[in-house]
This record gives sequence, C-alpha cells and structure tokens, in this order.
Amino acid sequence: MTADIPPIDRAKFVAAKHAVGYIEDGMRVGLGSGSTAAWMVRCLGGMVREDGINVTGVATSTRTAKLARQLGIPIRTLDEVQWLDLTIDGADEYDADLNLIKGGGGALLREKIVATASDQMVMIADPAKHVDVLGGCPLPVEVIPFGWQTTQALIEEMLANQDVMGCSISLRLNVNKPFCTDEGNYILDLHLRRIGDPRQLSLELNQIPGVVEHGLFLDMCDVGVIGSADGTVKVRNIRNGTIEQEQVRIIDTDNLFLDIVN
Ligand code: A5P
Repeated sequence: MTADIPPIDRAKFVAAKHAVGYIEDGMRVGLGSGSTAAWMVRCLGGMVREDGINVTGVATSTRTAKLARQLGIPIRTLDEVQWLDLTIDGADEYDADLNLIKGGGGALLREKIVATASDQMVMIADPAKHVDVLGGCPLPVEVIPFGWQTTQALIEEMLANQDVMGCSISLRLNVNKPFCTDEGNYILDLHLRRIGDPRQLSLELNQIPGVVEHGLFLDMCDVGVIGSADGTVKVRNIRNGTIEQEQVRIIDTDNLFLDIVN
C-alpha cells in the first residue's frame, strides 16, 4: 500500500510523521487544516489509539474537527482550552525565514487565531512550497460579506501603492456561489505574483474595515518540517537557527487509511 501512495503524499506524510514527535503526553495541540495537516491528524490518531497518548486537540476547521473525532482524538474549543502548547499546520508557501502564505483551504482565520494562541507553531510541508519571495500563490483575504465589493475596491486602491507585481483580485467560488468560510465570511484571492514587503502589506490590509484577516503568517512559525518522498526530513528551527536532516521510516500506512471514514 505504501508504494501506491503518490510521491507528494509520501512527502506530506513524512513531514507529518516527524512533526507529531513534538507532541508529548498531556499537551493541548492546535490541529491545522489542509491535506498535509490531515496526515498529521492521522498520525496523531494512531498515537492516541495505539500508544495511549493523552492529548486535547483544538481544530482549525470543521473538516479537521470531523477527521480528528473520527480518529479518536478528543476535541475541545479554543475557549475551553484557552492556550495551546503546540500547533502543527501546513502552508501554501514558505520562505527562508518561515514566513508563510496560508488559507488555500479557506481556514486562515481560525488557523491564525489558533497559531497565535500557541507556545510553538510547527509548519509541515513538502519542498515544492518553498519560495524565495512570497506571492507566487494567491494571497487569501477573508472579508465580511456585507459590502464585500467595496472592500475589494479599497484593497485594489491600497495595492496600487504596494511593492507587488500583480494586483488582480478574485472572489473565491464554490461551484457558482461565493465560498463561505467556517465563520460565514467570503475569501478574496489576491494574485500578486511577488510580495516585496509582506509586513507593510499585512499592516495595510488590517486597516481596511471589511477585512477580517489575511493569509500572511509573519514571524509566527518557530519550526519548519519539510518532508520528501524518500523519507528525508529537513527541520529548520528559526528560533535557534539550526537546520537538521533526519530520516523518517515510511512504515506501512494501511492502518492510517483504514481509519478514515468518509
Ligand atoms: C488551509 O486553509 C491552509 O492554510 C492550508 O494549511 C494550506 O492551504 C496547505 O494545504 P495543503 O497541505 O493541502 O497544501
């Protein structure tokens, strides 16, 4: 079965498998969203069932919460838990300083709240997500539905003075209706191609009233775990400046697949 897994999923699994090694008994853990984070949830589910590890999870999306519950991971709300020891989440892009673009799956608001309420954030990804300069993938911006077109116009006006290469904006759709986030908001995808000054852009986006949050995660990530299909994992710790390389044993993952109830 392991051999049948596409290389990209093996890479995601390798990153996830290594990252769950940061989780200790009794920890309160933020569970990210997206396909890489789903591997992490599957690995953690195995630790709960097979090793009897005791953890409390706070999910960053209804989808992650559903998967975690199916796998036997106890899920609480952030208000019940208040603060987290660790959050493990994926990314759409990461740069050399582990600044990220997130929100490809539309969960950026809860993801940012949960990561901010954590002692440590660990990002898991495959090497294809690495960029020299952020902006190659669209930057998601969560906006209030009320007056969203006015909010879009204000963002367009603001972008005219930013160090970016593109400035087109699209409303994210789900079939032919606006995509709605878990909080009932819309997502505007900003096609910027290159973000020369992410900090300035972040500040200015946050000043526009209809903007709830955006997908730039700056200075939030402590550790980046980059998995490759051959089992190699590179661990970059931005706080102490270390880069380590290790090997993850790709065990048969049949049990992880069997646990997923669709
Ligand atoms: C979800 O809203 C995102 O922030 C994800 O973390 C990001 O899109 C990465 O997803 P994949 O792991 O599926 O690439």
